[in-house]
Amino acid sequence: MAETIVDFNKPCIVGKEYDYMADSIRSSHISGDGKYSKLCHEFLENKLGIPRVLTTPSCSHALELSALLLNIQPGDEVIIPDFTFVSTVNAFVLRGAKPVFIDIRSDTLNLDESQLERLITEKTKAIVPVHYAGIACEMDTIMEIAGRYNIPVVEDNAHGLFGKYKNRWLGTIGCMATQSFHETKNFTCGEGGALLINDRSLIENAEIIREKGTNRSRFFRGQVDKYTWVSVGSSYLLSDILAGFLYAQLEVWEEIQAKRKWIWQTYHQELSDWAKKNGIVQPTIPENVEPSWHIYYLLLPDLDHRQGMISHLKANGVNSVFHYLPLHLSEKGREYGGREGDMPVTESVSDRLVRLPLYYDMGEIEMEKVLEAVISYKL
Ligand SMILES: Cc1ncc(COP(=O)(O)O)c(C=O)c1O
Repeated sequence: MAETIVDFNKPCIVGKEYDYMADSIRSSHISGDGKYSKLCHEFLENKLGIPRVLTTPSCSHALELSALLLNIQPGDEVIIPDFTFVSTVNAFVLRGAKPVFIDIRSDTLNLDESQLERLITEKTKAIVPVHYAGIACEMDTIMEIAGRYNIPVVEDNAHGLFGKYKNRWLGTIGCMATQSFHETKNFTCGEGGALLINDRSLIENAEIIREKGTNRSRFFRGQVDKYTWVSVGSSYLLSDILAGFLYAQLEVWEEIQAKRKWIWQTYHQELSDWAKKNGIVQPTIPENVEPSWHIYYLLLPDLDHRQGMISHLKANGVNSVFHYLPLHLSEKGREYGGREGDMPVTESVSDRLVRLPLYYDMGEIEMEKVLEAVISYKL
């Protein structure tokens, strides 16, 4: 019998994706904002209790849309965790902003709010917390500091859909939030995203920027009798075929989350003794936080052991990955003055983190195989 290989990820497929995509194609409205886009918008608006949701081609695009909406200008500063995906920073750098990196907390791997205030200057135009792995940032403190300086907060919630902070959904706390529906995420349509708009005063401009800088959305609602170019904009709509794919998954969101929670918690419990004995750090969930169960990671003692663990898992038929490289030490990040030692926590975590396979379709056989492979690694 062929040996089971455990993939790091398999895109979530629940079954109705094909039907809804076919229905979208039959409807002859396959561009953006057709039947399934509207269903996704309404579903997320109602579920999360947020005034407006707009699907986008990716989270990167939703972040770009947020930067345009905040009218970020060359020379503006935006505070971004050093430990995140490049899209968080690119969206603002595209508008000419200077990224100001902030180090992360060693427990949640989220931006360290105790360092936030000293990084704020007169040029700070946005703060972009990332709920790493779908575990909430310390939002009360972040919102209180941002509020005192009147700085908008955009939550990069690529990982965090249906996670909670003090009983509030992640993505509904800042003035805006961005979601990812990339194939690695809990809910997917291959490539996709959404902008969640909490601040009602931003809604109309968001619709305009997303529709190539035109007031087309107002035209479709019958509010104007012709549509025209009214501001700078781009095309940030998700095809309705992909929205159909996504809607099939949103409909069964509880089932998807329950499965991921089960895998996450099984890893956590089963690895707990081994981790303690070997000086391995498991994820921390602060009080009053409900994760979105997006990522299960381990922090090994050092880079050699992290690489050793990945090779050992591979040799045992388990694919695992690491991320992110510290942004301030990247080729581009160094242009903004990044030097070794500037962000000690990110630099250490980046060397030590390994992500274990975690996907909707994972069965007990795969989970057992991962657990056995991890525990048999000799430190
Ligand atoms: C924190 C974070 N932000 C943004 C993105 C970009 O998402 P997308 O691939 O949907 O553009 C990712 C992708 O993994 C991410 O991890």
